[in-house]
Amino acid sequence: MRRRSPKPSHACAERLIEVNVQNPETSGRSIRADWSAYATAYDLLSEHNPAYQELLQDFEAFLGTIETPRLIYDIGGGTGNYTEVAARTCPDSEIHLVEPDIGMNAAARAKLAQFDNVEYEAFALEDIGASGTADLLICVHALYAMPDPEQRLRDMRRLLRPGGWLYLIDLGRDMDVADWRSYLFSSLKREHGLTGALRVFWQGREIAKQNKTILKAQQEGTYWTHTAEEIATAVTAAGFEIHRREAVYRDYSDLLVCRAKP
Ligand SMILES: C[S@@+](CC[C@H](N)C(=O)[O-])C[C@H]1O[C@@H](n2cnc3c(N)ncnc32)[C@H](O)[C@@H]1O
Repeated sequence: MRRRSPKPSHACAERLIEVNVQNPETSGRSIRADWSAYATAYDLLSEHNPAYQELLQDFEAFLGTIETPRLIYDIGGGTGNYTEVAARTCPDSEIHLVEPDIGMNAAARAKLAQFDNVEYEAFALEDIGASGTADLLICVHALYAMPDPEQRLRDMRRLLRPGGWLYLIDLGRDMDVADWRSYLFSSLKREHGLTGALRVFWQGREIAKQNKTILKAQQEGTYWTHTAEEIATAVTAAGFEIHRREAVYRDYSDLLVCRAKP
């Protein structure tokens, strides 16, 4: 994959990440989640979160409705759960997992080691220089955390060929940590009993901590919050035609299935 060239002195991906961390536009003094800390328990809670599992199932069902995409990007792919679905169901496709966080990237590499159709790109979306070639872009719960989300949507449009698909899910509403805690605890207790629920909560305590940070970042405006209308307007303005749109993830998030306009 071609990366934008304006940082010639930083040849390797690790150095690029370091540059991003120190860039006030992308990090600075604002509150931001520590994605590497999040990565340590991300899959533990994702596996036990029925709302998360529903989204993964929706994505797999969506893949069954379109012509097999040849080139796929999973932007902000985290620990690789959506890439895993794509790699498994589209074994002949080339999949690029774009994930700038070292911890998330390492978790994804370990989990997806058996797939030889996955490339790992340790860059932020804004540092990818490719254009006009992708057939499908996946971006789940990552856009809200990126600097200048409207510009990032235009970057996504640039990566896609005309008619290419964007499968976008974004957290739009404030992360009500107490509400999620009670939802997850009830679901875990039903499945694993009180002791099992307490054990998973203890093992996944880093997630609660990072979710509180996400809420703070939303409240101070570092992370984007939006209504369904606002994200639909931004997606359309970036050059997409919306094919399906619904509130998901217990109404905290918006799902938009779109095609890149010619
Ligand atoms: C909540 S995780 C979502 C992971 C995955 N998409 C999922 O749904 O399981 C958000 C991810 O977005 C990534 N991210 C944040 N800013 C980004 C950027 N500018 N470009 C690409 N990824 C970014 C973070 O590193 C983090 O791993």
